Amino acid sequence: MSEITFWGHACFLLSERAKETVLFDPYISENPLSPVKTEEVKADYILLSHAHWDHIGDAYAIAGRNGATIISSSEIAKQAVKDGFNAHPQHIGGRHSFSFGSVKLTLAFHGSGIAGGHACGFVVDYYGKKIYFSGDTGLFSDMKLIGELDSLDVALLPIGDNFTMGLDDAVIAASFLQAKVVIPYHYNTWPLIEADPVEFKQKVEQKAGSQCVILSPGSSYSI
Ligand code: NI
Ligand code: MN
Repeated sequence: MSEITFWGHACFLLSERAKETVLFDPYISENPLSPVKTEEVKADYILLSHAHWDHIGDAYAIAGRNGATIISSSEIAKQAVKDGFNAHPQHIGGRHSFSFGSVKLTLAFHGSGIAGGHACGFVVDYYGKKIYFSGDTGLFSDMKLIGELDSLDVALLPIGDNFTMGLDDAVIAASFLQAKVVIPYHYNTWPLIEADPVEFKQKVEQKAGSQCVILSPGSSYSI
């Protein structure tokens, strides 16, 4: 059984007993909601959706200590290699196999945080479970296609508004994606992105037909 653990903001860890772990957007040391310390984090792979500071965060510190491989768009991956880290470059639409399964980069409508780059999302096959992490993005109707191409077990969606989709757009995203379970993120880290996850859960379960699981920072969900 795989576990999805939420460490606040956009940081999630995929883990399974004695298997390789996959960490998303490790904004930890400066994250007011983080329940963990950077030094405690163990990761084999680090997925970076874009290079804004609240996503790239502690990626280098964790990659350096763990010998982890950074998986990201080619601009960010190439910079990571230049900076002395292991990295695997991909780009939007491309899928690649890894020991745990595979990673496909998806569209995300957002700044990249790096010259010439593009923000992305990910569809991850983690030991047979399909997880979609949208990254920071506005709502877009091709999310329907993402849900059609891969039958999603879990969709991780931002709801905090201002920088990303707000709550009501994320409900529409959930209806497009048709994942079995939806988990909200990128909210309540700062006053600017306050959102009510309980309202989101009610709306998703009523309008999108997916189950919604609210994870407080430090808690996990088994898939
Ligand atoms: Ni961003
Ligand atoms: Mn962000």
